[in-house]
Amino acid sequence: MEYRGSQFYDREEQFARYTARRGSAENANDTLEEPIIWEMSGDVKDFSILDVGCGDARFGWKLLQAGAKHYTGLEGSQNMYGLAVRTLQEVPSQSKVIHTTIEDWTQAQNPKEASSYDLVVSRLVLHYIEDLESIFNQIYEVMKPGGRFIFSVEHPVITSTLQPTGLRTDWVVDQYFVPGYRTQDWMGGPVMKFHRTVEDYFQAGRSAGFQVVNLRESKPVRERFIHQETYERRQRIPLFLFMELRKPAT
Ligand SMILES: C[S@@+](CC[C@H](N)C(=O)[O-])C[C@H]1O[C@@H](n2cnc3c(N)ncnc32)[C@H](O)[C@@H]1O
Repeated sequence: MEYRGSQFYDREEQFARYTARRGSAENANDTLEEPIIWEMSGDVKDFSILDVGCGDARFGWKLLQAGAKHYTGLEGSQNMYGLAVRTLQEVPSQSKVIHTTIEDWTQAQNPKEASSYDLVVSRLVLHYIEDLESIFNQIYEVMKPGGRFIFSVEHPVITSTLQPTGLRTDWVVDQYFVPGYRTQDWMGGPVMKFHRTVEDYFQAGRSAGFQVVNLRESKPVRERFIHQETYERRQRIPLFLFMELRKPAT
């Protein structure tokens, strides 16, 4: 059996390995991904924020500490949802976690949610999703005019040819212009990730009506690494792609 999206995180062995990896020194999320998300987010004071695929919602906690007014997380995995509820239990009036797949949330069309968020974030989730168009349209709907949508994904040079995890010394980029699901042996189990090109992400944003205002890659910064060797390894290939989209003000 192959596992898509949040199903993967509800397999106990993979969930344990993923959470252990996230806690390890010099992990890619803390050294390469999160710093750029913060740089792109800027000042979040008084913002209402939606996090699409929030995981354990630790980012939500940090956003509230940084002055955000309210945080809503959407999460499809029961295991992750449980962690997220625990992370935010001390701030119930400022936070909400909804246990839903992103696809179901997209279909639900809650009119009360329309134009309600200053910032929507989605970190390392959209490469699990096939129908990007519907999700981008729904995110556009729920954002305030002038609001921003910031997301990170596994970089398309990585998702083109998914290789087993481990300390890699070489990479393959192949079938780059062939979109679709690929299966990877990841954290000791199979998972399906949806490959699309950099241009596909860019055009999906424009088709939904967004202005694409920023694009980043996970260029490493020496100070964020303990070991020179890890820093040099991270200079070889981009692991993550980031985009910032804006809903026009009028
Ligand atoms: C790599 S984790 C990232 C979690 C969090 N955004 C972070 O950066 O710490 C991916 C998360 O996306 C969730 N996810 C993946 N596909 C999903 C879907 N279709 N609907 C809801 N959640 C999904 C998974 O359950 C998992 O928590």
